[in-house]
Amino acid sequence: MQNFQTKEIVNALKAGKLVALPSETVYGLAAHALNEDAVLKIFKVKGRPFIDPLIVHVYSLEQVEQLAFVPKILEKLAERFWPGPLTVILHKKPIVPDVVTAGLNTVAIRMPKHPIFREILKESQLPLAAPSANPFGYLSPTEAKHVEKTLGDKVKYIIDGGPCPIGIESTILNLSNPEQPEILRPGPITDRDIEDALGIRPVAISKPKSTHKEGQVAPGLLDSHYSPKTPLSLFQKDPPNKERCAVIYLKRPQNEEKEKEVQRFWLSEDGDLDEIARNLFSLLERLDGQGYECLYVEQPDNEGLGIAINDRLKRAAHK
Ligand code: TXA
Ligand code: MG
Repeated sequence: MQNFQTKEIVNALKAGKLVALPSETVYGLAAHALNEDAVLKIFKVKGRPFIDPLIVHVYSLEQVEQLAFVPKILEKLAERFWPGPLTVILHKKPIVPDVVTAGLNTVAIRMPKHPIFREILKESQLPLAAPSANPFGYLSPTEAKHVEKTLGDKVKYIIDGGPCPIGIESTILNLSNPEQPEILRPGPITDRDIEDALGIRPVAISKPKSTHKEGQVAPGLLDSHYSPKTPLSLFQKDPPNKERCAVIYLKRPQNEEKEKEVQRFWLSEDGDLDEIARNLFSLLERLDGQGYECLYVEQPDNEGLGIAINDRLKRAAHK
């Protein structure tokens, strides 16, 4: 991997090229959002179906107003959570190309917090469409080397900003009806955080209804997604004891005697959910392709950040 100057990256984006870059959640694969040809390259490189709309990343609230109709309710959310891991769905303006939104009349927008992402947004002054920088359906990348491994032959500009501090994708909040905010994808900003900011509790969509005009559900909201190649199953209390499988605990196991049969791993020292989220995709990535017959992962309680972790685990386990 090379080192790049900001200027070179900005010029590449202006010229319609793709750039993989770190965000606080996961690595993104960015293109100039208003350049259709550039955005088409994202779909091609990822093998992503065109029915799956992209998130547009911005530097400022003025940019949001150029792209979408801004409801009053966004003020409070932006003040509290932006820059940060919250994506909102708003009614789009005609300037946003159909390829970005999969033909929907809404657009997903987020103001990321990562200093490298912010610097590029600031210096370019471009809105950047960026999905996670993984082949469609695979685990989201939380380190530059994950991007290098899967997309390195197709993407010249990969910026290494170290491991992503959060490790799972942003919360997606549908504000297309501002009276009734809906969580379309649980994430680092929890339903309680949103309730604190707004004074109303968002609806959690567990089985999202179709938001696509042809009646398809956006694939990011499908059951199977973020999956390793090795079959993955979940457990709650007692881990299965199967040879040639890896068992992944939420915290470092205390008892030694169970060590015999299976290979044991853990996502955190003491069960801290932030640490678990941060390590989740990178540990699955590391264990995938090591010849295990299966991966067994312990599920956290369905509360706070545990809701988003469970969401990703269930999708990874879906067959
Ligand atoms: O943390 C993140 O959100 C990362 C970083 C790079 O910002 N991005 C990310 O993008 O996770 P992606 O493309 O992997 O997931 C975006 C999700 C997709 O599931 C897509 O279906 C949904 O956002 N989405 C985008 N536009 C939408 C819209 N107008 N209505 C409903 N869902 C939408
Ligand atoms: Mg993704």
